[in-house]
Amino acid sequence: MALLRIDKILSSQEIASRKEIKMLIKQGRIKADGKIVTKPEEKFDPENCEITLDDEPILYKRYIYIMLNKPKGVVSASRDSREKTVLDLLPPELRRKDLFLAGRLDRNTEGLLIITDDGEFSHKLLAPKSHVNKLYEAVVDRKLIENDVEKFRAGISEGGDDFLPADMKIIGENTALVEICEGKFHQIKRMFHAVGTEVLELKRLRIGGLLLDDKLSSGEARELSSEEINQALSREKIL
Ligand code: URA
Repeated sequence: MALLRIDKILSSQEIASRKEIKMLIKQGRIKADGKIVTKPEEKFDPENCEITLDDEPILYKRYIYIMLNKPKGVVSASRDSREKTVLDLLPPELRRKDLFLAGRLDRNTEGLLIITDDGEFSHKLLAPKSHVNKLYEAVVDRKLIENDVEKFRAGISEGGDDFLPADMKIIGENTALVEICEGKFHQIKRMFHAVGTEVLELKRLRIGGLLLDDKLSSGEARELSSEEINQALSREKIL
């Protein structure tokens, strides 16, 4: 990896503000491989050098990957000056400057959302040719029947869009699991609309092989492990 300025390295990890970082360096509290760093412009390779604050190692992570259990009523926007967004829900230790959403959910949809600052990962996850399936639970306004399952399996057209065949499993009178491999605008709601029913509640349960952690309450977030990051990219079929 390229050499980076020590102040950039520290601020990318949200260790402290730029001003505070300057002060920490001035006070001699930052070391790189055991040597006191004296200037903010000094450069190091953060992946191959031990950086410490008050002799405590700073664990450098190039990218961060977060699972959020998105609540209803919050917008999936990276930045919105007027409204609270999903990024405002993150605790301080998970915040970074360049975070964005790897796939959005509608305001009234809840469930699994992945937030990261790794553009390449996000592209892999979202590109149609990656075939990463997503699983949703939908509650609709009428009884579901086998004919609905068949229509989803045959492929639905709505509002000028053709949706690829999707699997549906009826799990309650008006509740179903639906697996899709695309992520078109309002896709699940539009697919149900096309078969004459409206979605009352929608929750995303899974992306690829990554399940929403049922220990995360609505609005809570946590970092993904490297195993989970790979699971999210898995092409496995769900239903
Ligand atoms: N489909 C929808 O209609 N809404 C979502 O938020 C996600 C999928």
